[in-house]
Amino acid sequence: MGYKVHYIKHIAGMLNLEGMDTKDVAEMICCPPDSSMGDFALPCFKLAKTMHKSPAAIAEEIASNFKCDHVVKGVAAVNGYVNFTIDREWLAHQVLNMVVSYGSCFGASDEGYGRTICIDYSSVNIAKPFHIGHLSSTVIGGALYRIYDFLGYKVVGINHLGDYGTQFGKLICAYKHWGVKEEVEKGGIHAVNDLYVRFNSEATEEMEAEAREYFRLIESGDKEANELFDWFKSMTLEYVDRIYARLHVRFDSYNGERFYSDKMQPVIDRLEEKGLLKESDGAKIVDLEEYGMSPCLILRSDGASLYATRDLAAALYRKNTYDFEKCLYVVAYQQNLHFQQIFKVLELMGYDWAKDMVHVAFGMVSMEDGSMSTRQGRVVWLEDVIDKCVEKAYDVINEKNPNLISKKWTAEQVGVGAVIFGALYNARIKDITFSYDKVLSFEGETSVYVQYTCARANSVLEKGDAHELYEKFAKKVKKTGKPVWLNPGDFPWVTADSLEPSEYELIKLLGDFSDVVKEAAEKYEPSCVARYAVELSQKFNKFYIDCKILSAPEKTTRMFRLTLTWSVHRVLKNAMYLLGIEVPDEM
Ligand code: ARG
Repeated sequence: MGYKVHYIKHIAGMLNLEGMDTKDVAEMICCPPDSSMGDFALPCFKLAKTMHKSPAAIAEEIASNFKCDHVVKGVAAVNGYVNFTIDREWLAHQVLNMVVSYGSCFGASDEGYGRTICIDYSSVNIAKPFHIGHLSSTVIGGALYRIYDFLGYKVVGINHLGDYGTQFGKLICAYKHWGVKEEVEKGGIHAVNDLYVRFNSEATEEMEAEAREYFRLIESGDKEANELFDWFKSMTLEYVDRIYARLHVRFDSYNGERFYSDKMQPVIDRLEEKGLLKESDGAKIVDLEEYGMSPCLILRSDGASLYATRDLAAALYRKNTYDFEKCLYVVAYQQNLHFQQIFKVLELMGYDWAKDMVHVAFGMVSMEDGSMSTRQGRVVWLEDVIDKCVEKAYDVINEKNPNLISKKWTAEQVGVGAVIFGALYNARIKDITFSYDKVLSFEGETSVYVQYTCARANSVLEKGDAHELYEKFAKKVKKTGKPVWLNPGDFPWVTADSLEPSEYELIKLLGDFSDVVKEAAEKYEPSCVARYAVELSQKFNKFYIDCKILSAPEKTTRMFRLTLTWSVHRVLKNAMYLLGIEVPDEM
């Protein structure tokens, strides 16, 4: 629980308002944006009705009856508000104590203990390019995976592979006509994609018919067709796994569409049983007109299943296998209708858990120069974007810090981080235009800025010989796996006699971290964490300019500021970890 909730509850408990319980009072208390008037405030306007007095008079009365304690130091009535000033040094003590003792677990919780979340993300298509359009699904899903894990949930990451469909018949046909084994082996996924693109532009009627036959052969278990299919599949997976490793995402299941091709009967049976299946031009559909949607196609007239049918089977399978509390689908908003239909059909089938299915939609990513089209093979491969970012990062690092020992590795951390952060920083529903200069800027709202801030903090910590001091506690945490509560005197450096405004701003923000993580999970918005990291960096840099750290005149001040620096560094690392971004020590 973040400090704000804690403090609000505390203040609410100290107030005794007629006819209102503590919970109602807590809901009224807010945090004024400008803390010069107070840290928390109770607006009295709503109370005027029931108490038959003016808000100003009520505020006066509440303030004069209020008794301060070790948490709340001051109270004042101002224009119908009761303003509370907290003991900021006490807050600093509490927050820093938590960060130092929890370390890499600070912000984590066990609220998800015994609860399972399935996340369907990335879900690439076999033998098709892994292009820039897959970036968002991959990194948003990857971040949500870490965020839920951090909150104690059991998370199941699912790559719902697009490995079923007539396009594989086309691919085999193209390979049979034009493919050369050695060339495809050498060219890998790019060569496979070229074959597919060539088929789409050059295939004759005859070849189209052949392709349909090849698809039928895959389905009926023909050895050669299946061997070719498996070859294309393993080539694709090898390729995407390399990218996943660089983006730090992982999956617990690669059960794709094909996996469900023999698990559709229960879906059909249930639909029949509920009287939901209707004939339409020989096909079987679920009519959704009543709900303002076009019909959901279940079986084609030739009896073949569809994307939706396989998604229904997958939903049932996931519920039975994982007993999820929620099942998330991190898929572009272009598929809004598809998921609305699926969720509706599940509801009509009588599954009350249909309400636990969530489409985590996101906007389009396009390149600055407009190159994006997937048709005609004009695609931007994600790997090329990552490579280019890493290259550019290398040039910048080489220029800024030519003597850095691990330039290549640092460039990888910076370049990959820039790609991830670029896709995570905005609210996910927004369309984004990817610009190399923007994501790699040292000044903007970027991962580079956050990483650079961390490197700056780290250098202060090294000069102040502070790491060892704090690692002692971090080690204790590692050993026990549990946070270590500090005894008074164990660690005196969490105490300050008085706080500078920029120190206080940092403390408050550190205290918000766990709420931010929770909010990110509740809204399925990793951007909350990304924005937090930028804000914390900005506030740290302000503190760095305003306050002397190593050259502070008093030892206690120096040590307090080192602790603050250590805490910011720690929390920035925790936040970046949740996004899947590494933080170099130096850059
Ligand atoms: N493979 C699909 C595509 O690239 C995304 C699949 C999303 N997941 C799902 N269960 N439908 O469009």
